[in-house]
Amino acid sequence: MKIVVFNGSPRGSRSNTHTIVTPFLEGAREAGAETENIFLVDKNIHHCRGCYVCWIKTPGRCVIDDDMTGLLAKMAWADMIVFATPLYVDNVSGIMKQFLDRLIPTADPHFLKDENGECKHLPHEGLLEAKDFVVISNCGFPESSHFQVLRLYFRRMIRNVCGRLVGEIYRTQGELFPLKAPGLSTILDAYREQVRQAGRELVETGVISEATSTQLEQPLIPEALYIDGANRWWDKNIANCRL
Ligand SMILES: Cc1cc2nc3c(=O)[nH]c(=O)nc-3n(C[C@H](O)[C@H](O)[C@H](O)COP(=O)(O)O)c2cc1C
Repeated sequence: MKIVVFNGSPRGSRSNTHTIVTPFLEGAREAGAETENIFLVDKNIHHCRGCYVCWIKTPGRCVIDDDMTGLLAKMAWADMIVFATPLYVDNVSGIMKQFLDRLIPTADPHFLKDENGECKHLPHEGLLEAKDFVVISNCGFPESSHFQVLRLYFRRMIRNVCGRLVGEIYRTQGELFPLKAPGLSTILDAYREQVRQAGRELVETGVISEATSTQLEQPLIPEALYIDGANRWWDKNIANCRL
């Protein structure tokens, strides 16, 4: 199986998102997958112009000459596509959204009703057809409800490209990853091991087991402790900055 990750964090290799992606890909490779990790922040991706030239004049090909050509080729290469993004204003990051808008050339413009009577586009020349998709995200707040929009967004978006959503990893309390505190490294190591397990399971069985999903959704530390620590962290940094 070939897996490609598109990481939409502006922090790139220093991102909390990457801290989750790394063990995920390790687990996938242990199970025999070939993997590739792409930091979108390092790529030259212009915004979609909405000209529809890719649907009318040059089917499947965008008028903009930038890194999207190579990224679309990577998508075509992969069996499993991972969208990895921090939660920004309850949604994907701007970098990720700009990338997702540019997937338009992969669709055929004609309208078609699906089995629920709702319109969709078919993939253009099968580019994204029958692909498996995984979503990995992390956010700053401690409650899983902050992922409500993202969960729905990716369900809709992956439906629109006729793909299958096979796995989701949503990590609350994401700002714990860079911290050094007594006992925290043990907790984070245990979490990374669960993510590695999820990567292995997805390659071996095609799904993340219920047991692993349940573990992945547990808070890393108690909510009250996280909120208190976060507020003290902000106070300290604001005070230090004013010195
Ligand atoms: C512009 C911006 C918007 C954010 N919006 C949210 C949000 O809506 N909800 C939330 O819980 N965290 C939010 N955060 C916090 C990030 O999700 C959090 O810092 C995350 O760990 C960043 O991941 P990264 O290191 O992979 O970029 C936001 C951060 C930024 C910079």
